[in-house]
Amino acid sequence: METFVITIDGPAGAGKTTVARALAQRINFVLLESGALYRFITWLLWKRGIEIQDFASKEELRNYLKSLLSKLEVRLTSFGTKVIFEGKELSEELRRKEVEDRVSHVSAEITVRDVVNEYLRVLVEGKKVITEGRDMGTVVFPSAKLKIFLTADLEVRAKRRFQDTKDRDFKGVLKNIHQRDVLDSQRQYAPLRKAEDAIEIDTTNHSVEEVVEQIVCLVERAMRWEEEGKP
Ligand code: DC
Repeated sequence: METFVITIDGPAGAGKTTVARALAQRINFVLLESGALYRFITWLLWKRGIEIQDFASKEELRNYLKSLLSKLEVRLTSFGTKVIFEGKELSEELRRKEVEDRVSHVSAEITVRDVVNEYLRVLVEGKKVITEGRDMGTVVFPSAKLKIFLTADLEVRAKRRFQDTKDRDFKGVLKNIHQRDVLDSQRQYAPLRKAEDAIEIDTTNHSVEEVVEQIVCLVERAMRWEEEGKP
């Protein structure tokens, strides 16, 4: 089967995962949540008490990460991305606060990004896949058939995260999202930004259904262009 990649990028709380999941089921694609890979690496380093700086060289870090990912099983379904390591499904673990607090730092490291990107490109081969993250359209899949960039006002994004996580401290959630925005969009490598050819959708005042409907129309158009050529 020919690979067909749709990218959805945007900041935390913009609705990427919810929209991507609903869309995947609607159009029968699988879902690649790229954040899961960064969360997995962050989780493992934290569990093993290792800091990125502990590696003597970038080469050593690269080899360590590659060997780690070779033992990882990633299952893509239309409901989401399952990460299985040493026989254990890690979804809950990867949402831990210890991971949340460290993941922006780990994912800012160029060697980590290189290894993850290589892994992601192989993972999507031959699949109809929606990839969700920060740099899917800009760096990892620059020739994706359709690129979406989702945004929403900071307050609205924080409210959504607050409801999702059952965290009782709204101000804390707001602060965490804001800090992540700053870290993810100002980092040196692959900062969060819209690809030039991405279509931006502001989800602040729209329901999931409305956004999905809009993207379905764009997918249909992209598929037509794929078959008949872009006019
Ligand atoms: O989407 P998420 O919340 O699971 O992402 C977790 C972290 O991983 C987020 O703070 C930024 C980072 N990330 C990234 O740098 N690049 C991606 N393509 C996806 C996630």
